[in-house]
Amino acid sequence: MKGLILSGGKGTRLYPLTFTSAKQLIPVANTPVLVRVIQTIRDADITDIGIVIGDTGEEIKAAVGDGSRWGVSVTYIKQDAPLGLAHAVKISQGFLGDDKFVMFLGDNVIQGGIHGLIRQFDTSGYNSQIVLTRVREPQHYGVAVLRTDGSIERLIEKPKQPPSDLALVGIYMFDKSVFQAVNAITPSWRGELEITDAIQWLVTAGKSVFPYIHKGWWVDTGKPIDMLEANSLVLDELKPVREGASVDEASVVDSRVTLQPGAQIINSIVRGPTIIGENTRVVNSYVGPFSSIHHHCVIENAEIERSIVLENSIIKDVPARIQDSLIGRRATISKATGRPASYRLTLGDYSAVGLV
Ligand code: TTP
Repeated sequence: MKGLILSGGKGTRLYPLTFTSAKQLIPVANTPVLVRVIQTIRDADITDIGIVIGDTGEEIKAAVGDGSRWGVSVTYIKQDAPLGLAHAVKISQGFLGDDKFVMFLGDNVIQGGIHGLIRQFDTSGYNSQIVLTRVREPQHYGVAVLRTDGSIERLIEKPKQPPSDLALVGIYMFDKSVFQAVNAITPSWRGELEITDAIQWLVTAGKSVFPYIHKGWWVDTGKPIDMLEANSLVLDELKPVREGASVDEASVVDSRVTLQPGAQIINSIVRGPTIIGENTRVVNSYVGPFSSIHHHCVIENAEIERSIVLENSIIKDVPARIQDSLIGRRATISKATGRPASYRLTLGDYSAVGLV
């Protein structure tokens, strides 16, 4: 089997972080979501992986390279415009050939791996298997209706009156019959070749399309709030490691904190689950649970909790606690000095700041 990761797209819901950067490279617990996806596929013994890239392709290539760091071989497939998930499959036919494959959205994080479902699909005679999970508000998702034999009868995008609570997770398995489907369907009202239309085409054509019900959590990191949720869930399961980091005697760092090499904790309290990145300094500060501070950051005279801070950022002398925040690369948050006493902001387009 092969793997296909979709890492094109625009990431508009994560502006401004994704104006110039790929959303799949935003880290969750200090590891980019895309790297987690690669590791998840690799852990299911699939090492031949195609990555569909768009405008942010060069950045993705620079971060992932040939994949050998994770024991996989990566082939890049350029998508000229984000014309839909089924379009991404269509342009990947040369790479996929006649092999069965698993398609994984490059911005999704899933609990517990995909080993079980890959084995099931590989040994089944199914043409396609779609990962579904039970959700509380199915009206916001693509929802599946099953037949009495358990196969998929119908898929409905964001139904007003959901016929089931089984939503599509961003993981799909196909055999080569999917190419008939993606070549037969036409663009939807939003101008995209929809994967749900391709799957529906397979069902209507009498192909065997079955669900795989995923029991653990799953997060589509489309919006900042989802990013923070994924971060909390992954941190909660992280086995704490502390190598090459230093904690002075005045600090209290609890057992569920991961300190990466070169991290320094000085006169501070750090509560887990939390991760402090390489060469990051935490000085006279409090870092609360569910925080991921990436590498080469400085947190000084500040308090932060349940937040993600990207690399090379500085948070210094901030009078209020920062919480539920997603802070980009090379950002600075500090106390304004001098008169008039005021907030002084230099914010990128589409930034969001909550003041009290
Ligand atoms: P989406 O989250 O559906 O789209 P997006 O990344 O453009 O985000 P937004 O809605 O915020 O603008 O995409 C899911 C994943 O699939 C994501 O990793 C991007 C990727 N993708 C492609 O590779 N090609 C495409 O044509 C589309 C639509 C998405």
